[in-house]
Amino acid sequence: MSDETFSAAAPGRVNLIGEHIDYNGGMVLPAALSIGLQIDLTPRADRVVTVSANDYDEIASRTLDETASGHWSDPALGAVQRAHALGLISGGADIAVRSTIPQGSGLSSSAALIVAILKAARSAKGADISDTHIAVEARAVENEFMGVPCGIMDQMAVSLATPGTAMALNTKTLTHSIVDLPKDHAIVVIHSGLTRKLTDGRYGALKGECDTAKAYFGTDDLCALDPADIAASDLDQPYRKRALHCATEHPRVLDAIDALKSGDIAALGAAMNASHASMRDDFEMSLPAIDALVADAVTLGADGARLTGGGFGGCIVAVVAKDQQHAWLDALLNRHPKARFIGAV
Ligand code: GLA
Repeated sequence: MSDETFSAAAPGRVNLIGEHIDYNGGMVLPAALSIGLQIDLTPRADRVVTVSANDYDEIASRTLDETASGHWSDPALGAVQRAHALGLISGGADIAVRSTIPQGSGLSSSAALIVAILKAARSAKGADISDTHIAVEARAVENEFMGVPCGIMDQMAVSLATPGTAMALNTKTLTHSIVDLPKDHAIVVIHSGLTRKLTDGRYGALKGECDTAKAYFGTDDLCALDPADIAASDLDQPYRKRALHCATEHPRVLDAIDALKSGDIAALGAAMNASHASMRDDFEMSLPAIDALVADAVTLGADGARLTGGGFGGCIVAVVAKDQQHAWLDALLNRHPKARFIGAV
């Protein structure tokens, strides 16, 4: 049995814009955060998988033969099983996790954990697997082991994003480019105080509604549809609204990318605000407390703000002038005592 230990790290991510379109043919714009996690992986000769984490007192002891059980160690177990199936490790593993990413916050703690474990296993084998391939395998862990029908955005972002920049990602082709963030404005991430899990079924329900719309329009790519055609169709609700969100969100992402490239913060903010309205009204993935947080973020001086991530809780992201950031944040957190500052990119 090897007692060599292999380490890897992955950041949390925030999505600037492009929500729930990474499985509907769209472009998305995530950025890596400075919070993240590090893992140590020590391969084992038997089929046991142990997981220790700074967020939990207990050490989880699982085996390679178990299925997901809703336990906090599920993502780690799924990643070790995948690493084993890929031949990167020959048995189980001891995994130690040190994370500063709050769970249930929509900042991709689970994608970061799975990607980091797969990267450590890649080092253990000395295998020539690209970071994109790692992201694809990590998504398969979420889809097949965890039962979360997520897209590819989070895994690509945490596997490949360059800190301090945004990643314009084409989720159909996985081609991506770096987009610089504004110099005089901060991208601020604030936790609403409401947590949620992608495994709670609501994410899957939205995905299922998009699938119904895809079947109606005979396409895999809701983002390529003309919003006017969707609005004029006789597709039932809520499927029509879900499709409308996708077909309008994709051009908003393109607008946001152009706005960042040309330094047009007002246009970036407008795209973010419109994105939030679409998530609230058409995709129905927000909550009243989050709508209030977003609205106050803008009233108090942000150029734009929106819910970020899978929805029904988690974080908002706002763009705000750096010289106003402190006063703005104080005023916002004063109005929303359950909210808390996570970080700024
Ligand atoms: C979660 C999923 C992603 C993406 C977002 C919503 O983070 O893991 O694939 O769908 O929700 O944009």
